[in-house]
Amino acid sequence: MSTASTKGVALITGASTGIGATYADRLAKRGYDLILVARDEARLNALADRLRAEAGVKIEVIKADLTNKADLAKLEDRLATDTAITLLVNNAGASASGGFEAVDRDTHDKLIQLNITAVTRLAAAAAKNFLPRDAGAIINLSSVVGLLPEFRSPVYGATKAYVTYLTQGLRVEFGDSKVRLQAVLPGATRTEIWERSGSDVNALDPNMVMDVDDLVDAALAGFDQGELITIPSLPDAADFDAYNAARLAMAPNLSRNKPAARFANA
Ligand SMILES: NC(=O)c1ccc[n+]([C@@H]2O[C@H](COP(=O)([O-])OP(=O)(O)OC[C@H]3O[C@@H](n4cnc5c(N)ncnc54)[C@H](OP(=O)(O)O)[C@@H]3O)[C@@H](O)[C@H]2O)c1
Repeated sequence: MSTASTKGVALITGASTGIGATYADRLAKRGYDLILVARDEARLNALADRLRAEAGVKIEVIKADLTNKADLAKLEDRLATDTAITLLVNNAGASASGGFEAVDRDTHDKLIQLNITAVTRLAAAAAKNFLPRDAGAIINLSSVVGLLPEFRSPVYGATKAYVTYLTQGLRVEFGDSKVRLQAVLPGATRTEIWERSGSDVNALDPNMVMDVDDLVDAALAGFDQGELITIPSLPDAADFDAYNAARLAMAPNLSRNKPAARFANA
């Protein structure tokens, strides 16, 4: 796609509904041209038609199942080589309700392919594109569940802990590069993900559930402020900094040449 946009092109996965569709709306209104990716082509086309009319930007639709190796490889090639792309929103994701042993193995496998494998491969492709130009940004949709094993969603939570860790690790690895990174950690947000995974968002305390418009606007405000980790509902960002500082305070003792004294044989 050739583009005259000064912002360049944002590639958004999982753009057919929910958080991804809301990013599409906001980024189009910020002047980005868009590449919208998901499985439901009709929904993507309907969104693209609306946003072309409302924002006057160029939009391409790519139908892809990110758990399908061939679809994913095609998208990686595009992301690695199209220098018009300046932003990846690594958003497509799924959850699964039910106890660990009750969820069938294929469901867990698909979840890991979508939430971990696709996110990693697309981030790597974007890095190949962005790092040599010292420009561009990667936004990864994680979740507060990645901080909360107590939420009793061990596989989904672990995939999201991975996404946060990946983002923090890439920040270290990218060093002084101007390539921007952000992990967004939403709490419960009113989208189809609940229904799709067999849970009812209306069963939650409404004080815990954010509207998707508020969520994406806050996440983009965090992006504009240069945050690496954005938790849209957390009133005081210093709380996350303290959590991170506690982790780092352990660092000098996490690898030593002798076991700790409490493990010494009697
Ligand atoms: N909503 C929440 O409470 C919440 C909280 C924390 C984090 N998150 C994270 O935010 C992200 C977006 O979630 P959401 O709430 O907007 O979910 P959603 O409403 O269920 O939307 C998920 C999007 O991903 C796409 N998708 C699903 N499977 C796909 C596949 N195999 N290949 C390609 N696209 C696929 C879906 O489109 P198609 O069906 O058309 O493919 C859809 O566009 C996810 O990573 C989720 O884990 C959500």
